[in-house]
Amino acid sequence: MTWVSLNSIMNDSIDQLLSDRHLLPDQDDADLFAKAFEFQKIVGASRAMGIYPYFQPLECNLGAEAQLKGKKVIMLGSNNYLGLTTHPKVREAAIEAIKKYGTSMTGSRLLNGTLELHETFEHEIAEFLGKEAALVFTTGYQVNLGVISALANHNTHVYLDKLNHASLFDAVQMSEARPIFYKHLNMNDLEKALARTPLGKAKLVATDGVFSMEGDIAPLKEIASLCQRYKARLLVDDAHAFGVLGTRGEGSSGHFGVSDQVDLIMSTFSKTLASTGGFVAGRAEIIDYIKHFGRSMIFSASITPGNLAAARAAFHIMKAEPERVHLARGNANRLRKELLAMGWDVALGETPIISIHVGNDLTTLALWKDLLEAGVYVNPVVHPAVDKDKALLRVSTIATHTTAHLDQALEAFQVVGERYGLIQKQAAHASG
Ligand SMILES: Cc1ncc(COP(=O)(O)O)c(C=O)c1O
Repeated sequence: MTWVSLNSIMNDSIDQLLSDRHLLPDQDDADLFAKAFEFQKIVGASRAMGIYPYFQPLECNLGAEAQLKGKKVIMLGSNNYLGLTTHPKVREAAIEAIKKYGTSMTGSRLLNGTLELHETFEHEIAEFLGKEAALVFTTGYQVNLGVISALANHNTHVYLDKLNHASLFDAVQMSEARPIFYKHLNMNDLEKALARTPLGKAKLVATDGVFSMEGDIAPLKEIASLCQRYKARLLVDDAHAFGVLGTRGEGSSGHFGVSDQVDLIMSTFSKTLASTGGFVAGRAEIIDYIKHFGRSMIFSASITPGNLAAARAAFHIMKAEPERVHLARGNANRLRKELLAMGWDVALGETPIISIHVGNDLTTLALWKDLLEAGVYVNPVVHPAVDKDKALLRVSTIATHTTAHLDQALEAFQVVGERYGLIQKQAAHASG
């Protein structure tokens, strides 16, 4: 098999793996399973070559380090930004909640699935964000589905940054609202789209606060002022900003000082808050409406007591130890600076997500594999998660990475980058 044909197989397989199923050609009219059999043939090749990067089964995960196939790796591919997943107080809170309430609520929030603990935590979140009320969901994905499908309908135009998280796109699809995409971070494009809205349409702008793959920050001041000018409501997805931006970790609207201009702030418990679940915060009447019409909450079981208590304990630690917020960003700043100095094509930024542009999908997967073999776990991001020839390595730091972790990772990046001719040889290597 030639390199070229392998490359095209890999690109096809990744397309198939990640594509929105609605975009795939109908090739299976006769047999619903035909696409799965076809996919197996293609993805099998990447598995055989050891460059299939998904569903890697970890044997142990301590936050800054993990174990994979018997080998210790530095975890630079998680969203555990404050390093709280193994914090003794977070573990203890989950265990105590299981002892007190059992393992599951066995039903929806609406019926038998609400604890006093949900409501206490909701008050605390709302107060922290300076909003009237908050509502806890079972996952962050379900927050976006529930919020948008409750509020938007066929008479709504929803304006979405092209690089928003998939849950926002899926939510718009579920709501039957009209999605209108604007170029990534491009305020002219957003303004033009808003200005073209037909009279009588309700408007919602929905944006990630921090973009999950690129790590860049939405210009919320400008977005909020456009929303005011064009009478649009604003929803910010702070999954990667809560606990990361702002002096207290309050997120992107706190970072820009525009919290009062953001109608709805959502985030997840599955990143900074070391659990699973999520919330939306805003005006009391709107939150109460979502509580009664958010289908993803009403028709799905409540977050488990253990997950709820873990997220709440992590939230309390975040508030008590804001230095963690700065540590996660500080670690990224050091890594970003030194990778840039090495010659990697690194996007400038200030969040714990570092995006390294590689370009070719196959090279990106090969880099991922070699870094893993060198004990460094990062995430490859290939087409169609990003545009063709825009593949990247996503590297994310957490508060509990030590200087030694970062040193070791940088050493591996130097060796692997030289191997693929992506960076210049270090002087010491060259003369040696
Ligand atoms: C920006 C963004 N929004 C929403 C979600 C969904 O959150 P959860 O994992 O809690 O379902 C994610 C998770 O990857 C995300 O990155």
